[in-house]
Amino acid sequence: MTKLYVTGNKNLNGHVIISGSKNAALPIIFMSILTDKAISIKNVPDLKDINIALRILICLGARVTFEKVLYIDPSLINNFSAPYHLIKEIRASIWILAPLLTRFGKAKIFFPGGCNIGARPIDLHIKYLTQLGAKITIKNDCITASIKGRFKGQYVLMEKISVGATITLISAAVLAEGLTIIDNAAQEPEIVDIAKFLNNLGANITGAGSNKIYVLGVSQLKGNEHKIIPDRIETGTFLVAAAISKGCIICHKTQPQHLEKVLIKLNESGAKISTGKNWIKLDMRETRPQSLNICTKPYPGFPTDMQAQFALLNVVAKGNGSITETIFESRFHYVTELIKMGARIKIQNSTIQCYEIQSLSCAQVFCSDLRASATLILAGCIASGITIVDKIDYLIRGYESFTKKLNQLGADIKMM
Ligand code: EPZ
Repeated sequence: MTKLYVTGNKNLNGHVIISGSKNAALPIIFMSILTDKAISIKNVPDLKDINIALRILICLGARVTFEKVLYIDPSLINNFSAPYHLIKEIRASIWILAPLLTRFGKAKIFFPGGCNIGARPIDLHIKYLTQLGAKITIKNDCITASIKGRFKGQYVLMEKISVGATITLISAAVLAEGLTIIDNAAQEPEIVDIAKFLNNLGANITGAGSNKIYVLGVSQLKGNEHKIIPDRIETGTFLVAAAISKGCIICHKTQPQHLEKVLIKLNESGAKISTGKNWIKLDMRETRPQSLNICTKPYPGFPTDMQAQFALLNVVAKGNGSITETIFESRFHYVTELIKMGARIKIQNSTIQCYEIQSLSCAQVFCSDLRASATLILAGCIASGITIVDKIDYLIRGYESFTKKLNQLGADIKMM
């Protein structure tokens, strides 16, 4: 297994270009199944999860070329089932279910994969597709689905806020008969980007970004081009890199308005934040951050995907801080690894308490999921000595050129 050797005691300073959003690109790639016209997509990040999604599309029959721009020709898609070994790799594969039902009236897939941060059920996806007219049976982890004619537009009150199930519902409603109203919908910027992409193909979606989304079914979609929004979690990760290393980092090609709660908390920690139309500068003025109390919430609340990174900030901050995780039931696996490096953290149910220490020291640590991987690498950048970060395969799933970008900011990370 590849390991990273991370030399510590670094201040991280400089400029970083933010890549396109993984969590916008993945669903948008699968939405291409809804049309038979060519699509071109810019600012798609080159990630393992993206490449797996494209391999799934190709298995379905699409023609795909991905150099700087991603071109998809969905006209030859002729298969309503995708292979188990690819579906199981990523959480996003659940998003082929509704488009395949729309295109073929049937689908045969499997339970998706995803980061080890909780049970990751798909009951809401199944429940709401059934409400719109699908017949879905599950045997072991095989999902067989069919629908007579088209999905029927409905009023759907989502029993809990779910990004994934909101996206599934939108993708089912776009070519459905009549109006679908999605109440208590997720409001993430990625959902706004998906709606913009689909509307550019001729869909009729309003309200994306609010908790009530209206989708008036249309008869068909055309082709078009699209540019993926910047990755707000990658942006937040690099801002935390500056905060924990007393550095000064400017993130370019990003969207400050997607990180409002993160910037508020970084400001509260003592960082000097300035922003422009597509950049964010964080300057710690060589001081340690102040500890914070944080509770993760659905957007526009504080993002769960920034939880691990801010736990690290609390570990090295002045004072004691706490973080409560309300979205996923098992997203603290990285805590034991930080404790190996000298962190003082107590887990109390869905809250971690972080107690002040002077500094971290090197250790061999093991990654457990995507955001934990980035956090442990950042911890190595500021710890004393050389930290070995093991099981880093998770990292390439969701961060494009992460170690290269960090080394350009003054880190010293070697892959062995
Ligand atoms: C998406 O996951 C993102 N993944 C996650 O990012 C992100 O943390 C999450 O949304 C935020 O809510 C992608 O976009 C690929 P959910 P998703 O449906 O769709 C429960 C990263 O690091 N739930 O919003 O899986 C679920 O268990 C990843 O980039 C059900 O109970 O998240 C969770 O407790 C990690 N039944 C809550 O809802 C369902 O059918 C929110 O999950 C679906 C979800």
